[in-house]
Amino acid sequence: MTDNLYDIIIVPDPVLKETATPVENFDDGLRAQMDKMLATMYDAPGIGLAANQVGLLNRVLVMDVDQRDGQRKPIWMVNPEVIWTSEEPSVMEEGCLSIPGQYAEVQRPKQVRVKYLNYEGQEEEAEFEDLASHCVQHEIDHLNGVLFIDYLSSLKRNMLLRKLQKAQKEGALL
Ligand code: NI
Repeated sequence: MTDNLYDIIIVPDPVLKETATPVENFDDGLRAQMDKMLATMYDAPGIGLAANQVGLLNRVLVMDVDQRDGQRKPIWMVNPEVIWTSEEPSVMEEGCLSIPGQYAEVQRPKQVRVKYLNYEGQEEEAEFEDLASHCVQHEIDHLNGVLFIDYLSSLKRNMLLRKLQKAQKEGALL
């Protein structure tokens, strides 16, 4: 780990099951955390990262589902809240930097509207659909101690966790 990147925490670390607390002070320390989280996410590489995954328990997430050809469209969210969800569901395969190499289909609302504080600390609202909707819901779940594998049957969940353990033992990951 270098100074400008966090280590990403892997299951079954208990910090991933904890609920992060709302941010009260929007200061340079918080912006430094947001910068470092974004750098860590791009380095992984991944499309979303929540504070719990770097061992911090404040309600901060970063995402960018639109990275192609070196173009970046980062979104920083502080204290995000889902304020509307569509009735229409969407099923997509999800993965997670804290559960490396494991993927499964998850059903969530196809569209969500989220209220949050942006990088400048101003209140903003935005609507997300499809991949971006899955991503923002997945990251907000992290802040509530919920992982995508929690939506699976215990049979499927245990199978994924065993596969991860086996891959770690064989040195294929980490
Ligand atoms: Ni995740």
